[in-house]
Amino acid sequence: MSEYLEFQGISKAYPGVQALSDISFRAEAGRVLALLGENGAGKSTLLKILSGDIRPDAGGIVISGEEMSFPTPRDAILAGVSVIYQERQLVPLLSVMENIFPGALPKTALGIDKNRLRAEAKAVIGKFGLPIDPDEPVGRLSVAYQQMVEIMKAYTRNSRIIAFDEPTAPLTDTETDILFRLIGDLKAEGKIIIYVSHRMAEIFKITDDVVVLKDGKFVKAMRTQDTDERALIQAMVGRDIGDTYSNLSRNEEYGDVLLEVRGLCTDALDDVSFSLRRGEVLGLAGLVGAGRTEVVRAIFGADAIEAGEIIFEGKQVRFTEPRDAIRAGIALCPEDRKEQGLILSRSVRENVTMPVLSKLKKGLFNMFLDRDAENRLTQEVIDQFTIRTPSINKIARELSGGNQQKVILGRWTNEKVSTKLLILDEPTKGIDVATKAEIYQMVCDFAKAGFAVIFISSELTEVINVSDRIIVMHNGHITGEVMRQEATEENVLALAMLD
Ligand SMILES: Nc1ncnc2c1ncn2[C@@H]1O[C@H](COP(=O)(O)OP(=O)(O)OP(=O)(O)O)[C@@H](O)[C@H]1O
Ligand SMILES: [Mg+2]
Repeated sequence: MSEYLEFQGISKAYPGVQALSDISFRAEAGRVLALLGENGAGKSTLLKILSGDIRPDAGGIVISGEEMSFPTPRDAILAGVSVIYQERQLVPLLSVMENIFPGALPKTALGIDKNRLRAEAKAVIGKFGLPIDPDEPVGRLSVAYQQMVEIMKAYTRNSRIIAFDEPTAPLTDTETDILFRLIGDLKAEGKIIIYVSHRMAEIFKITDDVVVLKDGKFVKAMRTQDTDERALIQAMVGRDIGDTYSNLSRNEEYGDVLLEVRGLCTDALDDVSFSLRRGEVLGLAGLVGAGRTEVVRAIFGADAIEAGEIIFEGKQVRFTEPRDAIRAGIALCPEDRKEQGLILSRSVRENVTMPVLSKLKKGLFNMFLDRDAENRLTQEVIDQFTIRTPSINKIARELSGGNQQKVILGRWTNEKVSTKLLILDEPTKGIDVATKAEIYQMVCDFAKAGFAVIFISSELTEVINVSDRIIVMHNGHITGEVMRQEATEENVLALAMLD
């Protein structure tokens, strides 16, 4: 009989949330099973139980007829389970080879046998066809290659079960192709593979089976080929959300020019010029590394400018630090929510109200923080973005990935921040389909209110359907501009590859 993995009646509660209730399903060897559900549905929690990082309150795991219990991560590894998380688990200071073979380092009398280690690491890296140096510290690799190192680590452990939690969120298209090839190889070798992603196209590309969770409960299991995108979204969300883009209510009227960038040069940018009117949504498209993030960082005062002019509200400006840009009415929701946005150890309330505390004062000389106003504002943000949290005081670390992203969006778009130019860098990374639609509408509403938006996304469909106008970049400069009405994935991609 072929191998399988079965979850039997798994339940797990956190204070204030039933993260999983009575989850049962089976994953078969040589097949890829998609685990789907909205933000906070319980996907990562289930994978953490599989990896032995947390213990379920009830239920068990059976692998090929054998009942398993994983009191610690080590027990799961020994049973042949590898989980590749949303957050990287590598040791940044150690080299690639040391990360691939943790704990299993070949030894000589004098300690670790570096030469053998290097040779073995080279063999694995070669098998995967990646341009990675085994001696490079992992922290210096791109996020994508760090991810590949995690996969190689799972591979060399000879795991029979490999689970991926949103692996493509930080990857470029080429890297995604490499990952899919690797997953195909693992599948052909008869591994049991579980795959979590919010990108629907991927589900139909690489998975064989689908399991949908909602609010910690099992909704349905089916073969991927027997369903379609609309039916899956309906199962996840619980209702038919229709066509996201054609349902958007957009802004039709533009005002005067809000931002003008002339001949901007930094160490990553070459002569970038464009302008943006009030009421307009401007998309920045391009491949990863094209310079999109660098453009907005330079405007925002986060990166040094070598030459060029920035005119905001008719005045020439040159922000030397983000604080000045924020004061002038520019908000940037960064790409990496962990490093540049969210304070994980602080509550949802503190994360939301951080930039507007001075506007939430009361009493004589406005000396005291108005707690009621602070709580009200936080609650409004929670309602607007349907952030799943049992309380405004929940610590950000304990929210699911997608809900953390929503907290950042709420921080910069709530009524107290007088944002005139909202810059969103990959705002829907890790966000579920229904909430994506809400974010797109929020962007349009912001434009309708007479403000402007710069929207960066690596998902081409998204950037060309949400933006009014799309600027395409390659290698630090602008290669073209397309209006939404004329934009297609083909013509934008062609510009993105133009030198
Ligand atoms: N350490 C924790 N402490 C308290 N609550 C938690 C903790 N980890 C997760 N939760 C809660 O459990 C629920 C399920 O979270 P989980 O991370 O499994 O969701 P998910 O399906 O992976 O969502 P996403 O798509 O956003 O990654 C959420 O309500 C979350 O807030
Ligand atoms: Mg998750």
